[in-house]
Amino acid sequence: QAQKLAATPPMGWNSWNYFAGRVTDKDIRDTADLLVSTGMRDAGYIYVNIDDTWEGERDAQGIIHTNKKFPDMKALSDYVHSKGLKLGIYSSPGAQTCAHYAGSLDHEQQDAQTYADWGIDYLKYDLCGFREKQKAEAPNDLAKQNKMMRDAYMLMHQAILKTGRPMVYSLCQYGFDAVWDWGPEVGANSWRTTGDINATYDRMIVIGLNQAGLGKFAGPGHWNDPDMLEVGNGKLTMDENRFHMTLWAMLASPLLAGNDLTKMTPEVASILMNKQVVAIDQDPLGHQAERVYAEGPIEFWSRPLADGSTALAIFNTGEDPSDLRNIPLPLKQLGFNKAPKAHDLWLDKSVTLDAAYKPTLPRHSTILLKLTK
Ligand code: GLA
Repeated sequence: QAQKLAATPPMGWNSWNYFAGRVTDKDIRDTADLLVSTGMRDAGYIYVNIDDTWEGERDAQGIIHTNKKFPDMKALSDYVHSKGLKLGIYSSPGAQTCAHYAGSLDHEQQDAQTYADWGIDYLKYDLCGFREKQKAEAPNDLAKQNKMMRDAYMLMHQAILKTGRPMVYSLCQYGFDAVWDWGPEVGANSWRTTGDINATYDRMIVIGLNQAGLGKFAGPGHWNDPDMLEVGNGKLTMDENRFHMTLWAMLASPLLAGNDLTKMTPEVASILMNKQVVAIDQDPLGHQAERVYAEGPIEFWSRPLADGSTALAIFNTGEDPSDLRNIPLPLKQLGFNKAPKAHDLWLDKSVTLDAAYKPTLPRHSTILLKLTK
């Protein structure tokens, strides 16, 4: 059963990137409504994840309650489920979360049971406050600190299993101790590989391009997580939004939109819901892309797909427009002895990869091709 969870990278929405500590019950309900009315649910975005700052006090029995922003979590969960969506929540193995709300330390089983009783389907478990405990109990002993961390993640995994309710288990510890090596052993369906993203092109590409080499650790049920999407946030241009979406899809990353759906423009909607691009992310083979070749600001990344074809992304990471005049497509490296059939997924049209194929890529832009023998 646990195996079937996250057979493809989880898709949905998370409150943090836009709402941060301001998120309320109403925002979650509005988001649930909009996931349905915009078509995002039907495009695959089914998890509605409440990030940090929902937590209230523990009662005399130690049971966690919500704070006043979330008057009734069970009612909210019923509402989200009535829309054909799933509900996610957030906690920390520490005494406190990153935003200094109550964490799950010493209440793991109780909290897992509370989440199960509420009908929670996804838990993001953020190291944060646990760092204090590691440093206090094992000063200058990194090996012991790392063991404490793994044990803490295992403890919550077992607590979730004991409830009998399937929950996607999303580790958030920024890639410490090469989490990709041991994430699957503690039941993780995904693990963050980096520190936090923000809604800037520079931060997005540093995170995305640094995923090179991690592909072999991902696969059905357990995914590298380069953090949630910023598509539609900040001042990202449409080229930058497409670049971000393309790179995350190539990386078989969880696709957790992080924008305010009440203000989503049609253009942003069309990027998040591009069927063919989402299909690359959700390809059942689950083979994360790797960099094939880079020359100056131009990078080629590829991944094999379940139907025998190959996805090839071309990125212009630089500040100037660039054409491919002197840069051959790495078709030989990808096993094509003659020019494959090619479909440009953003333009949704067939292209001929002959000598005349010299597209110009504006700064911060991308081309995503599906190649078939
Ligand atoms: C950390 C995480 C973020 C978010 C915040 C909440 O910074 O990496 O994704 O969950 O905590 O406080």
